Amino acid sequence: MKRIFPPSFYNIITLIGTAVAGVTFGLILFLILIESMAAQEKPYMGIVTFVILPVFLLLGIAVMIFGIMREHHREKLGKPHSLRLPQIDLNNPKHRTAFVSFAVGGVLLLLFSAFGSFKAYEYTDSDQFCGETCHSVMEPEYTAYQFSPHAKVGCVQCHIGSGADWFVRAKISGSYQLYAVAFNKYPKPIPTPIENLRPAQETCEQCHWPKHFFSEKQRVNTYFLADDDNTKWSINLLMKIGGGNIEAGPTSGIHWHMNIAHEVTYKALDRERQVIPWVRSRTPEGEETIYRSTEVEVTEDSLANAFTRRMDCIDCHNRPTHIYHPPAPSINHLMALGWISPALPGIKAVSLEALEGEYSTKPGALDTIGATIEGYYRDNHPEILSTMRTAVDSAIAEVRKIYSRNYFPEMRTDWKKFPDNLGHLYSPGCFRCHDGKHVTDQGKVLSKDCNTCHTILAQKFENDSLRISLGGIQYRHPVDIGGAWMEMNCSECHSATQ
Ligand code: HEC
Ligand code: HEC
Ligand code: HEC
Ligand code: HEC
Ligand code: HEC
Ligand code: HEC
Repeated sequence: MKRIFPPSFYNIITLIGTAVAGVTFGLILFLILIESMAAQEKPYMGIVTFVILPVFLLLGIAVMIFGIMREHHREKLGKPHSLRLPQIDLNNPKHRTAFVSFAVGGVLLLLFSAFGSFKAYEYTDSDQFCGETCHSVMEPEYTAYQFSPHAKVGCVQCHIGSGADWFVRAKISGSYQLYAVAFNKYPKPIPTPIENLRPAQETCEQCHWPKHFFSEKQRVNTYFLADDDNTKWSINLLMKIGGGNIEAGPTSGIHWHMNIAHEVTYKALDRERQVIPWVRSRTPEGEETIYRSTEVEVTEDSLANAFTRRMDCIDCHNRPTHIYHPPAPSINHLMALGWISPALPGIKAVSLEALEGEYSTKPGALDTIGATIEGYYRDNHPEILSTMRTAVDSAIAEVRKIYSRNYFPEMRTDWKKFPDNLGHLYSPGCFRCHDGKHVTDQGKVLSKDCNTCHTILAQKFENDSLRISLGGIQYRHPVDIGGAWMEMNCSECHSATQ
């Protein structure tokens, strides 16, 4: 038999190394081929193709080289090249059986490796992989996601998409993330906003059509005050969502900001984009209006260097699926359903206190929540513990559930670290611009009027008559704070303690 490689290549160690390297190389080509035919980009698949398999490839090559060097060494010592390949005689039944088993075994092994690596590749693309494999890291995002309107939308639909450019970026960051997790190098909490999220045009707009006109949507919210009686009240808001399709008629409402007819660009001073001193709106005719904050002090220099961004879906809907709810609305909601009984005196206040404690682990928090609520009744209303025991127990269970879904002390993740920009009560949100303190040089104010974005249709307090008007009523703050709710941003009081 003619040998094409130098003699030192032909030794059993090098041949095994070559086989391993060859098969792995084949598998890598196979996966790259499959991926090129896939309809969607699969970023984490890179972990198999570009991280796991290459390890075997390198291992195979290392074994190959080791064999060659060993052979050279033997040569120096004067030992002969020793590889004698087995002689196979297919007429010999023993040889025949061995040969057939070996051939069949080899083919099966190849098939299984191909199948196995394909499965591994599919798995890296699943939501389970995103959410569960890096369990402690992604637990907050995954848990919040499972209880959100997008629970059935795959992680990759929003986080990765088509386009070669993003493909490469996702590959690199996917592999980097693997490293970060393996060596515990990831930040806690995971910083938001994520810098390499693709523009909304390529994610949200795969499913949502920006030109769609939404009619007004009614929201009815029920609240309970943090007093002994859990004083109940409700508000009825008509959200003016609207639309931005200039071809179909006048554009109006909240979705007026949609990038179609109008373009809104802003400058932010902080990474979280919460402090916005400068906003520009541009009409289709190219007319520009620039609003500057009268509150935020900023020099022209730092303004010129500030982060500039054109507004899209994410600037309002920044928590479409990883929604960490503040405690007050969650408790209000369960009290309105009766799952936390409003008949328990002071239950709103004590639940708030229990949820907002400083905790370092989840099990510790869940224990303390039970003890806090139970302790409160033991000290203040001992009769409740005997007459309404089941209500107290189910309140504790529900408050623990709120905690589990919205607080992740190990990852230092909760609603305060991830402000939701859709609204203005618990974080500045819309009031980052619409705070009544953004003014043009001509003195035009970016509106904070309570009926710009929603019509307050009705408000009803316990022991009071219903105030209602289709044209919108004057807001009444549930506790008397004078005119503070008009002067200040709601979140100045509500994000600190509530
Ligand atoms: C409906 C679209 C959507 C889906 C589905 C989605 N995400 Fe997100 N994700 C976002 C947006 C939007 C952000 C915040 C981006 C920003 O503020 O810049 C985000 C942020 C994150 C962050 C950064 C931390 C944070 O909370 O801001 C992580 C981690 C994350 N997502 C993981 C996941 C995982 C894991 C899944 C699947 C279980 C998933 N995402 C599914 C849209 C989505
Ligand atoms: C793969 C398709 C898909 C993508 C991508 C997607 N969504 Fe959705 N979205 C849906 C579906 C389906 C619903 C309706 C869920 C339901 O009503 O059960 C929905 C609902 C919503 C809602 C209404 C939520 C509510 O409270 O009822 C908003 C707001 C929204 N999406 C915004 C976004 C934003 C912002 C993005 C981009 C970050 C996005 N979506 C990306 C499919 C998608
Ligand atoms: C100026 C902020 C803002 C921008 C920009 C914005 N939205 Fe909205 N969107 C809202 C608000 C506010 C609501 C009403 C939420 C509510 O009712 O609580 C809403 C409602 C929605 C709904 C739900 C409608 C319904 O009937 O429940 C969808 C879907 C939606 N937006 C998708 C998008 C998409 C997609 C984009 C980007 C193309 C986008 N939005 C851009 C603020 C915005
Ligand atoms: C980055 C700054 C910015 C943010 C954040 C912002 N807006 Fe605006 N908004 C503007 C500008 C600029 C205008 C245009 C004012 C003008 O020149 O008429 C506007 C106008 C509006 C209008 C009036 C549209 C019309 O019919 O003329 C509504 C309604 C509105 N915004 C709702 C919202 C809501 C709701 C949010 C929060 C979810 C929000 N905005 C967040 C900058 C912002
Ligand atoms: C720039 C638009 C805008 C302006 C101006 C505005 N709001 Fe709102 N408001 C919103 C949006 C958007 C939400 C809904 C958030 C959500 O979907 O939960 C909201 C929600 C609310 C809620 C319910 C909050 C909750 O989550 O329980 C109240 C109460 C409210 N607004 C009162 C007011 C009052 C009072 C004013 C006048 C000082 C005002 N709003 C001005 C956009 C606006
Ligand atoms: C000066 C501080 C302050 C400002 C500013 C303020 N609030 Fe309040 N708010 C309070 C206090 C105090 C309570 C009573 C808390 C309780 O009993 O739960 C309250 C209660 C509420 C509640 C009921 C909360 C719940 O958990 O049930 C709502 C809703 C509310 N405020 C809306 C607003 C809105 C909307 C704005 C802005 C337009 C605003 N507040 C501005 C101090 C403030």
